[in-house]
Amino acid sequence: MGKRTKSKKQLITRLVLAIVVSCSATVGAIAQDGEQLFIKNCSACHKMGTRLVGPDLTGVTERRSEDWVKSFITNSQAMVASGDADAVAIFEEYKIPMTSFPLSDAELTALVGYLGSFGAAAASADGAVAAVVEEAPIAYTEEDFANGKAYFQGGLRLAGGGPSCISCHNVTGEGVIPGGRMAKDLTYAFGRMGGHAGVAGILGAPPFPAMTNAYNGTAALTEGEIHAIAAFLKQSNDGESVAVDNTKYFDLSDGGQTLMLVYGFGGLILIFIVIGITWKGRLRKSAKDDINNRQLRSI
Ligand code: HEC
Ligand code: HEC
Repeated sequence: MGKRTKSKKQLITRLVLAIVVSCSATVGAIAQDGEQLFIKNCSACHKMGTRLVGPDLTGVTERRSEDWVKSFITNSQAMVASGDADAVAIFEEYKIPMTSFPLSDAELTALVGYLGSFGAAAASADGAVAAVVEEAPIAYTEEDFANGKAYFQGGLRLAGGGPSCISCHNVTGEGVIPGGRMAKDLTYAFGRMGGHAGVAGILGAPPFPAMTNAYNGTAALTEGEIHAIAAFLKQSNDGESVAVDNTKYFDLSDGGQTLMLVYGFGGLILIFIVIGITWKGRLRKSAKDDINNRQLRSI
């Protein structure tokens, strides 16, 4: 009994020590890095000095109070729902719900500090911001359009082995196979995301959990793939469609019925994979399994 109490005490001491150490390490890391937080969480949609998926955040800490910015980052849709006039106005303008970030107060403070370093005054002083907006238009070739369409539909495999976009997204257009309804229709996504930079930002570092999982690590999209897919989305946004010979990629001899079957199964498997990932930590056996086995062995 005495031994047991001691080891329990030791355990608690170690636990407390571990928590203290990890907390102080985190605080140190956070203090230094609002910029890292921004790059990791926000840069897919925000860029200083220009509009991307979301607004230019230059001078945002002068337009809004610190508390406002913090609550907006934590849950912008809750602010819109509560009728906050500024939140409603900016959401009405962009109509894209911003991702919610469950960050700690220390992290939020670091982020706001970083945003504050891009004051409106600092921006107008050196004119550098205006120059960023004048980016050269991106050129797409016919090959980009065709490849992008094939990547999107799964006719061309993605180098990293990630799923094709069509398993979750739909694009309406001539010769485009009907796609998934799990996620937003992307027919006009190119315009919605503010053009190439926005689409490339989203695909380079997807801020949506379903996509982050699908294109994580080695499954990340390559620059060439992103360029081609952006070309395809631009084309669909502009209502043009390049004639692509789908038979080059798919066997459509039976009017695409086999293909639909394949996609049906593919979708099902994908759903199982997503479920598997989501419940990775589930208890696979009964909690009493060990006791049970021990009992069985002793018989
Ligand atoms: C998925 C894209 C996306 C991501 C990721 C994102 N935002 Fe946003 N953000 C938006 C959009 C779109 C708006 C415009 C408001 C709206 O539609 O709700 C916005 C608006 C804002 C605003 C209000 C701007 C103003 O003028 O009032 C702030 C502040 C902001 N974002 C900060 C951040 C920070 C900080 C992060 C990272 C922690 C972040 N956002 C990540 C899309 C995004
Ligand atoms: C596993 C499912 C899945 C796959 C595969 C997937 N996405 Fe997504 N995507 C999502 C989800 C979920 C969202 C979040 C918005 C929503 O709910 O629709 C999203 C959002 C987007 C957005 C922002 C749309 C908007 O208007 O807000 C773009 C652009 C996009 N995806 C492009 C792609 C492209 C291109 C591919 C293929 C390379 C792809 N996605 C593959 C699930 C997926």
